[in-house]
Amino acid sequence: MSLVEHLRPEFDALRARYPEGFDSSLVLPCLHRIQHERGFIAAEDVKPLAEYLGVPAIQIEEVLAFYSQFRRQPVGRWYLQFCRNVACSMKGAERLIRHAGDKLGIRPGETTADGRCTLDTVECLGSCGTAPMMMVNGRYVENLSVESVDRLLGELE
Ligand code: FES
Repeated sequence: MSLVEHLRPEFDALRARYPEGFDSSLVLPCLHRIQHERGFIAAEDVKPLAEYLGVPAIQIEEVLAFYSQFRRQPVGRWYLQFCRNVACSMKGAERLIRHAGDKLGIRPGETTADGRCTLDTVECLGSCGTAPMMMVNGRYVENLSVESVDRLLGELE
């Protein structure tokens, strides 16, 4: 049974809360639910979800490509997403990303061999006033420095 099929009762309940003809509005909440269940959105999730919602599969792929909240691969226990957009870059994001990668022995897009950390980069997270910043498992960590990155990495089990 596909994950979409497994979640179908929940999706049906969600669908009942939306006006008829707005099934494409369910793409985001359904993807969030799939990611919560699996940890990421697998390629095999896209077609069954598209069929369930009656939308083109490309519409789901576009959503997945646009929103950095959605992961297409399994990630480590700690998912580190460094912002690399303008404000963060101007305040040294690249240096911090390189530093974190050197400490972990991985490059952006990779996961440590023990599955502890995945390092990634994202575009602006809307916290430019506290640049440079990152998200760790969805939580903002702001005003980063080499020292605070070191401290944080030391705390992640
Ligand atoms: S540029 Fe990094 S939060 Fe906006």
